[in-house]
Formats: sequence, structure tokens, C-alpha cells
Amino acid sequence: MENYPIFINLQDQPCLVVGAGTVALRKIRLQLQAGAKITVIAPTIDPQILEEFGDHITHLARVFETQDITGYRLITAATNDPEVNAKISTLAMAANVPVNVVDQPELCSFITPAIIDRSPITIAISTGGAAPVLAKHLRAQIEALVSPGLGKLAQQMRLLRNRVAELIPQETLRRRLWEGAVNGPIRDHFEAGRDQLGIDTLNELVEHGKTKLGSGSVSLVGAGPGDPDLLTFKALRLIQQADVVLHDRLVSDEVLNLSRRDADRIYVGKRRTDHAVPQGEINELILSLAQEGKNVVRLKGGDPFIFGRGGEELELLSETDIPFQIVPGVTAASGCATYAGIPLTHRDHAQSCVFVTGHLKNGTVNLDWQGLTVPHQTVVIYMGLVGLPIICAQLMKHGMPNSTPIALIERGTTKNQRVFTGTLACLPQALANKEIHAPTLIVVGSVVSLHEKLAWFDGAS
Ligand SMILES: C[S@@+](CC[C@H](N)C(=O)[O-])C[C@H]1O[C@@H](n2cnc3c(N)ncnc32)[C@H](O)[C@@H]1O
Repeated sequence: MENYPIFINLQDQPCLVVGAGTVALRKIRLQLQAGAKITVIAPTIDPQILEEFGDHITHLARVFETQDITGYRLITAATNDPEVNAKISTLAMAANVPVNVVDQPELCSFITPAIIDRSPITIAISTGGAAPVLAKHLRAQIEALVSPGLGKLAQQMRLLRNRVAELIPQETLRRRLWEGAVNGPIRDHFEAGRDQLGIDTLNELVEHGKTKLGSGSVSLVGAGPGDPDLLTFKALRLIQQADVVLHDRLVSDEVLNLSRRDADRIYVGKRRTDHAVPQGEINELILSLAQEGKNVVRLKGGDPFIFGRGGEELELLSETDIPFQIVPGVTAASGCATYAGIPLTHRDHAQSCVFVTGHLKNGTVNLDWQGLTVPHQTVVIYMGLVGLPIICAQLMKHGMPNSTPIALIERGTTKNQRVFTGTLACLPQALANKEIHAPTLIVVGSVVSLHEKLAWFDGAS
């Protein structure tokens, strides 16, 4: 180990920052968060420092002098003068005060790590100055796993520590109690933002040794349109914690593979024509799995509340006391259009955007065609492949120019993405002999003309 990690208590401690530019600003912000009393020495100060922290720091508007070194718990040199920085380092080391010289590890007696702040939990990552960018990437990955709710759980555990020690003198039993708190529904409640339920259940566990360990929970999670990198942090965390994942056809294998190896995966998908599991049965299944005490994640392609029947799946649960939460996802319109280089709105092209379903029912598509043909509007059509000829014909019949650009995005955001563009008059014909794979999304409007210029995503690469 190159450096020995420690956490230093800076509450009300005098700390010195020499320099007052943008780098100093970041150091000041973090040290203030840790409760330090900061003196800044610099002839001039970045206005942003004054604006953000003016009331919380002491600014001495002059150059650093040798006698400034005394009286501080921690010193940071962040000037752009290497000689001053070196002098501060020498003086601080001689006085045995920890010193950090920004970007000059050889002059430091301590270095500052990348931090994840879930107070009172603090996670620090260091590459010993070898690869700060890598440290930042690792921080982003860990941040996804450690929800802000865990900080709140830790706070509650701190409040109850003495009470638990009083009630349970035996260390093993105490440890078992805390294990129960951090490994089940109590943790879930805090992570899902159900703070009060979390606090009540934790208190119940402490006072009576009881929790609702028997009941599980359900998370309806948007998995985005395909690219796993489009998952939210919260979605990733829940997928990784799930005991059972119910998914449909739109959820990509890459996303499913993020679940635990021992988690059950249940396919309840539907194709346009065959309904693998009827909706009512899916609802019942979710309920019964949660009643068995399982952490159920119901994964939906895109966003669960956009053409996803997410609401229906939760209605049954809302009549029980099983806790549930909903996590939004990147909907196909947003994901596919972005990956196709088609802005859904644009000052010169479209000031509004509507999402509709082009699902064919009894051989026809039932839409408010007049409402869809208003100028300067982008129309995004989900589930419209089969109805494409009807959709184009109806839009033209209701006044949309035949030359209006239209795009069909196949398997958007995935490595198989293909984008076909044309006009209302010609696209159905142009696609008639092509083999097109679901899912596909249709975008109609003048914004489609930007695709040629803005296309950036090459699925194959
Ligand atoms: C039942 S809807 C579900 C929509 C989903 N809840 C969402 O927010 O994106 C399914 C339709 O979404 C569209 N879709 C979803 N993912 C897609 C993708 N990766 N590429 C193209 N279209 C997609 C297709 O039109 C597909 O028929």
C-alpha cells in the first residue's frame, strides 16, 4: 500500500488554503462540508468563492508569509506559483502540519481522494496520484451502488447504537440485529426513500426484535431502450439487488446480465401477436413473489409509464401493504431519436413533440390525425411498423405534405440499430421488401432532415 488511508476530523478546526482560484474553490467547498474553519490567503480571490462561501471563510488579501504557517490543523497550497507552493510544503512539513500541494504529489504529506459522500458514510478512492481520471470513473461506479438512502440508514443506526447496547449486551446478538437491519426490508425502505417506514421498522426491530422480514417489495423499473449504459443508477442498483427479475422481450440481455447470478429471471414477455403471459397473471405473479418475501424487480423496456402498462401492474399491489416503487427509464422516443441524431425539438423545425401508439387494431390505426398534422410538431409513433402504410396515408390525407421527412429506427440504441429515412410518400414502399426487425420507432417531422448531419452512433463499432 503506497499511502495509509485515514479520515481526519476537521469539525471547527482551523485550516489554511493558500491561493483562491478554481482549484482552491473545490478544496474550500469540501473542507467546509467537513466543518473546517477556513482562512484563505491570496492577493485576489475568485468571485465565485466569495459568492458561494464569502460568509463562511476568512480572506486575507495578501501574499503568503512564513509566519502564516502556524496555528493550522491542515494546509492546502493551491497557488499558481511553484516557488510559493514549495515553500509552503517545506514549512508545513517542518512544523508537522499535514500539507497538500495541488497536483504536486512529491510536495504533499497527504493526498485527497475521490469522494462519495453519503454522510455519515464516506467512501474515498485513491490511485495514489497515478490515475485520477480512473479514480473518478470508479467513484461513478460505486456511487451507483451506494444509494443516498444508505446515509440515512447509517444516521438512524447511530441514533440507536446506545439503546441497542443497553437492550442487548451480547455482542453476537447485537451483530445479528444489525445484520437484519442492513440486509433486508429496512435497508430497502431507506434506499427507496420510504424513510418513515424504514425508521418505524428499525425501531420495531430494536424494541421488539421484530421486522416485517416476511414481506418483500416490488420495484417497477424502466430498463431504457436497449443500451445498458442508459440505465439510471437507481435501476442498476435495484437490478443488482433483486431476488427475482420479471422481464419482457424489450429488455436487452446486457441489462438482464446485470442481475445477480443466483437471482431468478422470469420471462413474461409479449410479442405483438402472442401474449406469453396474460397481463392479469403477470400482476398476480408479482404479488405472490413479493408475498413470499422476495425483492421483485419488474423490468420494463424504456419507461414503465410510457406505453408500458406500468400502472396496471401496480394497481393490485396498491391494495396490499407490500411496498412498491417506480423507477423511470429512458423512453424509446428519447433514446432512439438521440442515437439516430434526430433532435425531437429544434428551434428551426419543431416546437412541440407528441408520442402516440400506432398499434393496428381491427386493421386500422385509431389516432387523432388532425391533431398530428399541426405544423412545427414532431410526431413519434411507437408500435407503428405494421401500420406504417396506413399511418403515412392518413397523415397525408389530413394535410401533412407528402414530402414530410420520416424515419424508422430499428432496434434503436443497440449494436443492431438501423435508421431508414424517406418521405411520407415514399418510405412505406421503400421498406416493403426489406426485412425489418422489431422493435421499431417512427419519427415524423422536419427534424428528421437533421439525421444526415447529426448521425453519430455506429452500432457496429
Ligand atoms: C409496448 S411499447 C413500450 C415502450 C416503452 N415503455 C418505452 O418507454 O420506450 C414498445 C414499443 O416501444 C418502441 N421501442 C422500444 N424500444 C425500442 C428500441 N430499442 N428501438 C426502437 N423502438 C423501440 C417500439 O415502438 C416498440 O414497439
